[in-house]
Amino acid sequence: MEAVPDPPGRVRPVKIGILGGTGPAGSALAARLADAGYPVVVGSRSKYRAMEKVDELLEQWPDRNLPIEAGDNATAADADVVVIATPWDGATQTAASVSEHLNGKVVISMANALTRIGKEFQPLVPPRGSVAASVQAVVPGCKVAAAFHHVPAKELGDLDHPIESDVLICSDHEEATAVAAELVDAIPNMRPLDAGELSQSTPIESFTSVLLQLNVRYKTRVAVKFTGLPDGVAGLEKKPKRAEVAADPPTPAAAAE
Ligand SMILES: NC(=O)c1ccc[n+]([C@@H]2O[C@H](COP(=O)([O-])OP(=O)(O)OC[C@H]3O[C@@H](n4cnc5c(N)ncnc54)[C@H](OP(=O)(O)O)[C@@H]3O)[C@@H](O)[C@H]2O)c1
Repeated sequence: MEAVPDPPGRVRPVKIGILGGTGPAGSALAARLADAGYPVVVGSRSKYRAMEKVDELLEQWPDRNLPIEAGDNATAADADVVVIATPWDGATQTAASVSEHLNGKVVISMANALTRIGKEFQPLVPPRGSVAASVQAVVPGCKVAAAFHHVPAKELGDLDHPIESDVLICSDHEEATAVAAELVDAIPNMRPLDAGELSQSTPIESFTSVLLQLNVRYKTRVAVKFTGLPDGVAGLEKKPKRAEVAADPPTPAAAAE
């Protein structure tokens, strides 16, 4: 696929690699992004598992010509933009194992640190407060954005039906926020929202336990949609992120604007 010319301030990635792409979340995202025209590599610890998953997706959507291929996680990490879709406790180890492929790239973490005790979902707090921040710490040369935490995999993977959902994105890197927003924007009816710096990934990830609790209570799969935002907001206006500014921090009054 030829790279599409980018509007100013946006970066359109060409190929997306998904680490742990054989699970429900990663494979659903792979299908959606491929359906939106992005070439995708489904990664796995086993290339053969990835091949099986890709065959499954192509059989499920025979008329859509999805540009999906299979690889091991290192092959997926070779893509232009890399998504981490492993369970939370495998995320940093997986990122570290392919760190030489990730340096300089945008890496999107969608992993949630959660546990289920009886009927109750509870958030866990990993080192540095979130999975995304742990990944950023273990591969400091990449640009981590946290995104897609609240999107239910089953609906995400159903290409016949758009999914009404906002996607909260946070990062210390403007480019990573822009790239994640571009991917969200490419999925019908999803809206990217810039939720700020990577430190926001702590509440974003842990809020997932509330959503899962609602799913159990109401026997459904909820998604998140915010009210009160102006029409057409995509959170893409240029705002320097902390990691990219050496200047003095804003005053509290300026930050609240
Ligand atoms: N499910 C959802 O609705 C949803 C929605 C949004 C976000 N998420 C988040 O997205 C992530 C993936 O969710 P999922 O439901 O797809 O999870 P999953 O099925 O448990 O795991 C995804 C894949 O990760 C790989 N994996 C498993 N354990 C691993 C380990 N210790 N180290 C490295 N890789 C490992 C496996 O692939 P291989 O064996 O092929 O390597 C597996 O297929 C989770 O962190 C979840 O919180 C899930």
